[in-house]
Amino acid sequence: MMLGNTSIDCPLILAPMEDVTDLPFRLICKRLGADILFTEFVNSDGLVRNNKKTAQKMYFTEEERPLGIQIYGSNQEAMEGAARMADEMNPDFVDINAGCWVKDVVARGAGAGLLKDIPRMEAIVAGVVKNTTKPVTVKTRLGWDDKSIQIVEVAKMLEQNGVQALTIHCRTRGQGHSGDPDYSWIPLIKAAVKMPVIVNGSLVEPAQIKRVVDESGCDGVMIGRGAIDNPWIFRQTKHYFQTGELMPEATVQERIGLCMEHMRLAVEYKGERRGVLEMRKHYAGYLHGIPNVVKFRISLMQYLEMNPLLEQLQIFADTRAQEVAAGTPAV
Ligand SMILES: Cc1cc2nc3c(=O)[nH]c(=O)nc-3n(C[C@H](O)[C@H](O)[C@H](O)COP(=O)(O)O)c2cc1C
Repeated sequence: MMLGNTSIDCPLILAPMEDVTDLPFRLICKRLGADILFTEFVNSDGLVRNNKKTAQKMYFTEEERPLGIQIYGSNQEAMEGAARMADEMNPDFVDINAGCWVKDVVARGAGAGLLKDIPRMEAIVAGVVKNTTKPVTVKTRLGWDDKSIQIVEVAKMLEQNGVQALTIHCRTRGQGHSGDPDYSWIPLIKAAVKMPVIVNGSLVEPAQIKRVVDESGCDGVMIGRGAIDNPWIFRQTKHYFQTGELMPEATVQERIGLCMEHMRLAVEYKGERRGVLEMRKHYAGYLHGIPNVVKFRISLMQYLEMNPLLEQLQIFADTRAQEVAAGTPAV
């Protein structure tokens, strides 16, 4: 897939996820093989009001390239201003969110709300393209609901307005995050446009991902929730693509080791207190699939400093390793 200066054969892309794909988590996924990263969505209204916290979401490191900054909003002027501000950060792409299903966002006509007002979507996209020097990409859904799917026409309109790649979360806004994604739209979109088309939605296992890539003819794969409790998904999928073999699942020790690495990054980039507090939402992911962890997970919530947390995590990993060695795992 060619996108600006980026040329990667069927890239595995970390999906933008608010409150999840911040800088530390993006680095974790990058180190485990994610080819392209996106920031969390950044509110264009907040950016043009010079809200500091909003602007911070655009910050990234060189290690993360290629990276796209994702902006959202329904006001064309604000989106154009946000595009200029994103451009100044020198990302590899600027992405427009036209798929967020959250009530507050769509009520303001932003995110998937743009699917209800295609002329507004077109004006915003054209405005963003004119206000950045970077390739513009769009992430959207199949349609507002199953009675109003017009994704093929939308894709053509986006391409005519200068969009250079399109990610499709293969659900409608009405489906939210549940129900089966319908990947069968991808070949129809591919037949209608020249730009790369990236598939997204419930892609969680290497063999399933390979099947969807082969059947849909997509140019790239975007993984969201599948990376939260298994950031190894990128490495595992690449291995499967190359060898047709499944890698072993991450061990308890690997899970805890990665959680500790993430904690150190969170503290490095956010400071100790904020880093430690924000790590709380990631414990469930790292401890996913490990038996009898509820008490341990809850016990981690009492700490406000990094070192005691690292110590507890190390003790947990060592104890589980000893149990396995002694043939008495806590299953
Ligand atoms: C916690 C969470 C936050 C999300 N935030 C964003 C966001 O900021 N921008 C966006 O385009 N999509 C967002 N999404 C949607 C994901 O990018 C993705 O399209 C969706 O989760 C489906 O992919 P998956 O099944 O691989 O998770 C979010 C999803 C989740 C679960």
